[in-house]
Amino acid sequence: MRNNILHPGAGELNYEIRSVVEFANSLQRLGIEITWENIGDPLAKGEKLPSWIKQYVSEEALQEDLSYAYSPTKGLESARQYLSKTRSLETGNNLSKENILFFNGLGDAISKVYTWLHPNSRVMGPSPAYPTHSSIEGAHARSHHLTYDLDPYNNWLPDMEDVRNKVKYTPNITGLLIINPDNPTGMVYPLETLKEFVAIAKEYNLFLLADEIYCNLAYYPEEFVSLAALAYDIPLMIMRGLSKELPWPGSRCGWVEFYNTDKDHNYKEYAKSIEEAKMNEVCSTTLPQAVLPKILSDSRYKNHLKDRTEKYIKRSEVAFNTFKNSQYFEVVRPKGAFYLSVTFKEVFINNPPHIEPANKQAAELLEKELSKDLEMNLDKKFCLELLASTGICTVPLSSGFNSHVQGFRMTLLEEDDEKFEKTLKTINSI
Ligand SMILES: Cc1ncc(COP(=O)(O)O)c(C=O)c1O
Repeated sequence: MRNNILHPGAGELNYEIRSVVEFANSLQRLGIEITWENIGDPLAKGEKLPSWIKQYVSEEALQEDLSYAYSPTKGLESARQYLSKTRSLETGNNLSKENILFFNGLGDAISKVYTWLHPNSRVMGPSPAYPTHSSIEGAHARSHHLTYDLDPYNNWLPDMEDVRNKVKYTPNITGLLIINPDNPTGMVYPLETLKEFVAIAKEYNLFLLADEIYCNLAYYPEEFVSLAALAYDIPLMIMRGLSKELPWPGSRCGWVEFYNTDKDHNYKEYAKSIEEAKMNEVCSTTLPQAVLPKILSDSRYKNHLKDRTEKYIKRSEVAFNTFKNSQYFEVVRPKGAFYLSVTFKEVFINNPPHIEPANKQAAELLEKELSKDLEMNLDKKFCLELLASTGICTVPLSSGFNSHVQGFRMTLLEEDDEKFEKTLKTINSI
């Protein structure tokens, strides 16, 4: 190549949730049954979309020619009008429809928000963290993502003194990210912690970014507070989407709510630049926006969410009870979303058990996979060994979620109760 064509931030891009699939597929070709615990897609794990939701799509939107047309760059007027009204009422923080911008899923939003941030301005996020945030923020700065630690010995809550100190001594930090409810830990930020974030942002003149894609999957809705209800006078972006709460991940429909844009000129220009970036792409997918107001305002929607969270609560209890006396593993009961982060006890770290591959060919594939990275973290090695032995496909916390704590993430999505319990027991009997 005449000149180097590799972006200087390319090394930061990593999405282990899907990159493990190739290895799993090669094991599957050997006849090993794979239990997919890596991807947060409820439908792929057997959950059914209620027929009344499908009806809105098939009987109304699909018959409408304009569903097949481009939409305005910001998104359909009707969808933004609906969100502007409901969100303003919910949070008491006025959200104009002009300050809502639709994306092709939050993946698209996350990518644009960091890509169009000044390269010297950094956003500090949680560790562990959903990797799209950490990878793309790191890539934008051509450096590792900056993090504050979530503490598994304190219900995965952040140490706010640590957050404050990192902000104080790292002048490039210009924004703080929270994911609430959190992926991968299932933690829901308590009110006091959220207030602390707002206080730090005010003191150091930062913007706040809250990924609230799981907000309607908080197990105890009274425990969840949107950051928009607490931050009235500082730059704030809230990210929402249809992928998890409907669930309709294939809709690729997410949006960003820009709050308090009149409070800071630089922030207003930044928000505008993100809209311009979207405009260069024209718009996001029209059809899901066309049905959004009807689905979210339907009287059956609340019950649909309640049924699902009750299911996840039950599964989180089963998982907690399976691991509570475990020799090697520890878990914290999740309070939202549909994931379980399992961490390693000291005894595992100091003396990891031997995990026998399913057969000779699986052993050969595993050896080849392990040889790709001779400095591989213990948790990644464990996930590959678990996969080659049992077919259970999980994601390591360290490399998969940019985590300071070693362990793995599985989901609470398995619809077959017996299979779910068997998966937990198989892991626990390693
Ligand atoms: C915290 C978080 N944010 C964003 C996303 C991306 O969602 P989307 O399907 O809208 O791209 C995910 C997907 O798992 C997620 O867990």
